[in-house]
Amino acid sequence: MATLAELAAVRTSLNAGEVDHLSRLAASWSLLADLSFSDMLLMAQGDTEQAWTKDFVVLGQVRPNNRATLLSDDLVGTTQRSQHWPLVTEAMNSDHIVEGEVLLDDEDAPVPVWCIPVRYNQRTIAVLVRLQGPLRGPASAYEQAYLDLFTRLCGMVTDSTFPYREADVAGPGIPRVGDGIILIDGRGLVEFATPNATNAMHRLGLYAATEGRSLRDLGLRVRVVERALEYGIPAIEEVDRGSEVAIMFHCVPLLDQRHVTGVLLLLRDVSDLRRLNRMVLNKEAAIKEVHHRVKNNLQTISSLLRLQARRSDDTHSRQALLEAERRIRSIAVVHEVLSREPGEEVVFDEIVQSLAVMVEDSVLSLHPIEILVNGDLGTLPTDIATPLAIVIAELLTNAVEHAFTEFGGPSNEDVGIVVLNLSLEGDVAVAEIRDNGVGLDANFSLEIPTSLGLSIVRDLVRAQLHGTIEMNSVPSAQGGGTFVRVRVPLTEER
Ligand SMILES: Nc1ncnc2c1ncn2[C@@H]1O[C@H](COP(=O)(O)OP(=O)(O)OP(=O)(O)O)[C@@H](O)[C@H]1O
Ligand SMILES: [Mg+2]
Repeated sequence: MATLAELAAVRTSLNAGEVDHLSRLAASWSLLADLSFSDMLLMAQGDTEQAWTKDFVVLGQVRPNNRATLLSDDLVGTTQRSQHWPLVTEAMNSDHIVEGEVLLDDEDAPVPVWCIPVRYNQRTIAVLVRLQGPLRGPASAYEQAYLDLFTRLCGMVTDSTFPYREADVAGPGIPRVGDGIILIDGRGLVEFATPNATNAMHRLGLYAATEGRSLRDLGLRVRVVERALEYGIPAIEEVDRGSEVAIMFHCVPLLDQRHVTGVLLLLRDVSDLRRLNRMVLNKEAAIKEVHHRVKNNLQTISSLLRLQARRSDDTHSRQALLEAERRIRSIAVVHEVLSREPGEEVVFDEIVQSLAVMVEDSVLSLHPIEILVNGDLGTLPTDIATPLAIVIAELLTNAVEHAFTEFGGPSNEDVGIVVLNLSLEGDVAVAEIRDNGVGLDANFSLEIPTSLGLSIVRDLVRAQLHGTIEMNSVPSAQGGGTFVRVRVPLTEER
């Protein structure tokens, strides 16, 4: 669905400042809908270059939280004929509220309507249309207080003091009227508090009757309320009681001709939200800790293997132990990255960089060897990242171990180059490893399970990653060496 700004840009000739004003209004007008128990539409003049010149475009729509809606359809983006809305036309050309009635498709009887000019820089830029549902009998004291508040806020809309210029006091997550309201008069004394607001005060440990007293008298210091009273600045503050209770105070200063005549306080009990946040944070810390421990344990295992290798007299077993040690270290690399940023996904690039350094360091070779990494795979799910890291480590190790030892490889002055190319082809991660060494034996076959390294690679790529692997010598006309390509699907069906 198009945003208000997108709609306004395409369908109206409002300028950026005006659109911004309307966007801020739409971010905070649920308050108006709730206080007036009414559906509201925001209408602006359609672009004058269009054929339907004087018609209106609906830029926004909001329903009351505390009444049934009169509008079952979503009217945002629709064109409304000016003939059907003479009161909107009248309000568009005036600076005061126009009241009357309108016939709606869904309703048999005409519906009371208020057309409130939205003024900005001494100009009416849009009209706020309030469609009032049937009242259930005479208004109760609360309902009357709500309606009075609504009228005061409408006055602010035509005075261009509502919405506020401060953008951070609107948007989803701000308290709604039903969450609880305290109305404070111009002197800072509580005029009334709704039952939900009283409950919230109780949760803060304040049980005294509120009416006629200031919040400070009641033992509650909310700095933003004082600021709102003094300077007319809206703000949000959270008041905590211990670690268990948190109440959000949303301060809406009420202005009349730019003088502060009171403050509307919307209260919301956010204790549960805060508790949930804390739990999530704790869980994240726990997962981090687990990865950290796994990494430490793997490092311990790898040191033990290294120690054992050093004590072993037999070259073969020493070699085997050192290989095992290296394999474990490549798994530890993954957990090292995970312990820094835990989650279902890891930044694979960081793992690859560590692996490349590790392989370069761990292999003794007669020739200088350089590993170059091109491209990256972005973030990968951990269940792909771990096996893929092991596969890449094995293939890089093979290249530095086997490609440059035989004669026929690069001469001593040459540098052995191993290139790792990483790329995404749609939903497939592709890793290509190429060296400029001796190439594979004539009777080499990937399918004959001989040595451990490639058996591990084959098994991980095919069985665990459901991918494919090909491995070939590069003809010497094309530079020689060995080329390996691993393709791993990243889609859900894995
Ligand atoms: N990049 C390469 N260049 C040349 N020969 C290679 C290359 N990669 C693999 N080979 C050949 O394939 C053989 C099998 O590799 P594999 O990794 O399975 O075993 P390995 O490296 O000898 O032992 P390990 O089990 O310790 O890895 C190697 O012994 C080597 O002859
Ligand atoms: Mg190997």
